[in-house]
Amino acid sequence: MIDSFSKRNIPQAPGGSIFSGRLKEFQRDPLSFMQKLSRNYGQVVRFKLGPSQKVILLSDPELIKEVLVTKQKNFIKSSDIRSLKALLGEGLLTSEKDVHMRQRRLIQPAFKKTHVASYGQDMIDVAQHYVQMWKHGMETEITEEMMNITLGVISKTMFSMDLKEGYELVGEAVEKVMKLAIKRMRRAIPLPLWLPSKSNREFKQAAKVLDAVLFNIIDQRRRGGIQKEDLLGMIMAARDDENGTGMTDKQIRDELMTIFLAGHETTANALSWTLYLLAQHPDKEAKMHAEIDSVIRGKTIRPEHFSSLKYTQNVIWESLRLFPPAYVIGREVDKTVEIGGYLFKKGETVLMSQYVMHRSPEYFEKADEFNPERFDNDLLKKLPAYAYFPFGGGPRVCIGNHFSFMEMVLVLACLASRYQFRLTTEQEKVKTQPLITLRPKPGIRMILHERETEKSNPDSV
Ligand code: HEM
Repeated sequence: MIDSFSKRNIPQAPGGSIFSGRLKEFQRDPLSFMQKLSRNYGQVVRFKLGPSQKVILLSDPELIKEVLVTKQKNFIKSSDIRSLKALLGEGLLTSEKDVHMRQRRLIQPAFKKTHVASYGQDMIDVAQHYVQMWKHGMETEITEEMMNITLGVISKTMFSMDLKEGYELVGEAVEKVMKLAIKRMRRAIPLPLWLPSKSNREFKQAAKVLDAVLFNIIDQRRRGGIQKEDLLGMIMAARDDENGTGMTDKQIRDELMTIFLAGHETTANALSWTLYLLAQHPDKEAKMHAEIDSVIRGKTIRPEHFSSLKYTQNVIWESLRLFPPAYVIGREVDKTVEIGGYLFKKGETVLMSQYVMHRSPEYFEKADEFNPERFDNDLLKKLPAYAYFPFGGGPRVCIGNHFSFMEMVLVLACLASRYQFRLTTEQEKVKTQPLITLRPKPGIRMILHERETEKSNPDSV
């Protein structure tokens, strides 16, 4: 039993309209809004986002850890993520409690660090395809290129499909559904799917097409008795230790859809922001080029180069710090609970923002500056846990963390081994656009310059 009288009061941020609270400010610019609140109120503050919706913003690593790890059983996912159930069913991102725990147990082996290494060559092959297709002097929309690459990687690692087949069969259908899902999420209150509105009809139609594609792939594998080592193969072969059962076709479909949605846009945005940051910091870029050149010595990137690309890894860590694709994690209090001496009541929403924490001067010197060197000397081990958490934490930590980190490093090294990326002179100032993930707005137009590097010496090994 919780003794509510002995708890500290959560400071309340004033202002906003009686009906919508601070909703307008939040919708206009959630990043600045959260940053200001955090600076003004410190570790915890409560504000209103509607007549009855109370939201708590946490900006303290210890308290964030309590919500995500030690007392996570008292929380469920927030309502914006729950609205994705219409598309993702009971997949990892949207399921709760026992269902989530079982699914996580079954899928985890496919994403273990040791197994993920086996996808390295697929990641490189996809990046290499684009590197070879591009030309010196070409101008392009870099965010679209990165989306194509990450969609290619996920199609290849998931279904062992080549790029063209993967895109025609699955990629197109996924993209359509995702666009409509994002549109739905952006509404303050998503329209119930049974309403016969135009957008609902479009969404249902696109989801139906994608369902048919996925069920067909699953069915072909089952009937053909084909066993592959790709992600789908691992997911289909997974068996529960307790009763030996696997997943139904519907569960497999939900997980495939979830992995597509969770995995490709996040990684594409991170890569786009990284190229953007490097273009503005030629000294850091030169240092990274020197590392890549010395590791690959005129040849092409191989998966085993990953561990030698230390500076390139730090470039990615630093990019995820400044522009975390998942910029906020939300939870709803499921059972009233005490966090850091404060009482969090059932139904309240809790926000924990990576963007806010990663730019906090308390944990990062010159926090707004791009400085990959800060990750030298094991910074990640020295920081308090949850001052830096691009992949979340606890039992719901991103299952694709090793997968995407390796993908980002290998893809970046592959692209940078051949090209230098420069902003076009007409490029407008790039702003952050916080949708489901943190996108660059209005996109990033870049010109590709082929680098002059020492060509491979045929005698060298
Ligand atoms: C830079 C890339 C990525 C970032 C920043 C990222 C970030 C995150 C974060 C913060 C969460 C936790 C959300 C929460 O606690 O509410 C999460 C969950 C998840 N991510 Fe990622 N992610 C990335 C890439 C990927 C990739 C490549 C995959 C799959 C191949 C993936 C699959 C998932 C799944 C399935 C979950 C739900 C896990 C669960 O609840 O058990 N993510 N991701």
